[in-house]
Amino acid sequence: MISTDISLAVQHLNEKGIIGFPTETVYGLAGNAFETEAIHKIFDVKKRPTFNPLIVHIKGIEDLVHVAQEIPPMAYELAAAFWPGPLTLILKKQPHIPDLVTANQETVAVRVPNHPVALTLLKQLEFPLVAPSANPFTSISPTSAQHVEAYFGNQISMVLEGGECAAGIESTIIGFDNNKVVVYRLGALALEEIEKVAPVTLYNKKNKQPIAPGMLWKHYAPKTDFILTRNVQEELDWYSGRRIGLLLFNSFLPQLDRENQIVLSAESDLKVAASKLYDAMHQLDKMKLEVIIAERLPEYGLGVSINDRLARASKK
Ligand code: TXA
Ligand code: MG
Repeated sequence: MISTDISLAVQHLNEKGIIGFPTETVYGLAGNAFETEAIHKIFDVKKRPTFNPLIVHIKGIEDLVHVAQEIPPMAYELAAAFWPGPLTLILKKQPHIPDLVTANQETVAVRVPNHPVALTLLKQLEFPLVAPSANPFTSISPTSAQHVEAYFGNQISMVLEGGECAAGIESTIIGFDNNKVVVYRLGALALEEIEKVAPVTLYNKKNKQPIAPGMLWKHYAPKTDFILTRNVQEELDWYSGRRIGLLLFNSFLPQLDRENQIVLSAESDLKVAASKLYDAMHQLDKMKLEVIIAERLPEYGLGVSINDRLARASKK
């Protein structure tokens, strides 16, 4: 059930229920961060393996000390610069954070979402919310209440309506290694923005386990075959005669029916493109196509994060 009733959401969460809730990045599947019963429900409904830890959502920077400890000064600087907003910090956890939240790791992921409905909700609760993106494991993330309802319906207590997500892709996840900022997941906060505050290093996947399973290769994937390319024309020729859908950056191609094409931003605005990305993937996936051909975006700013998601969607 989709509803705008925040007090109903509070009631469900107080009773260990789980709900879909809006954030500026994507919708989350939320429950009380201290109730293992609620957290188990989240893993069950999502069919998510429990080795994949969850993000804790707090109402403000003042709550950080209740969740994390030994917080480096740089974490405070970044939080001051970007919270509320799409930046998740990996920090040493407080002992009372359930192991189920952190997948038995000593660290916890935490952020303050920048969405008025989410913040109003969090302020009315006596606990933080754990919330993974509200999609079944490996499928496309939801950017509207309708997406969540279509995925989970009455398996969850309700979906709190908050409109379409403004950012449209998940938060950027960073951690600290001897005070160096390490990026574990590209996301809605561009690296160029973080670099105005601190230099960043990309996490090196080679010979290490993926530290954020959001870095697992196949992720955010439509059911339809999905191809990512710099040269859409070449792929169009290759697949000619098939039912093709196109996911394009800034202009339609004249050779194909417009109904089978989605342009992310006619103005070439990467923020707009990010906000439209997942909805476009949901739409194309519903069109019973044989193949979706996606155009690689420019490799700067949010283009890097969008290309990361498109590349994961295209993996088998
Ligand atoms: O924008 C977002 O971050 C959204 C909204 C709802 O806040 N949430 C989200 O959650 O994307 P999820 O569960 O889909 O992705 C969280 C990522 C996972 O890849 C997980 O592995 C990583 O965060 N993560 C969580 N705790 C971690 C930890 N202690 N160390 C490393 N990675 C962690
Ligand atoms: Mg997710």
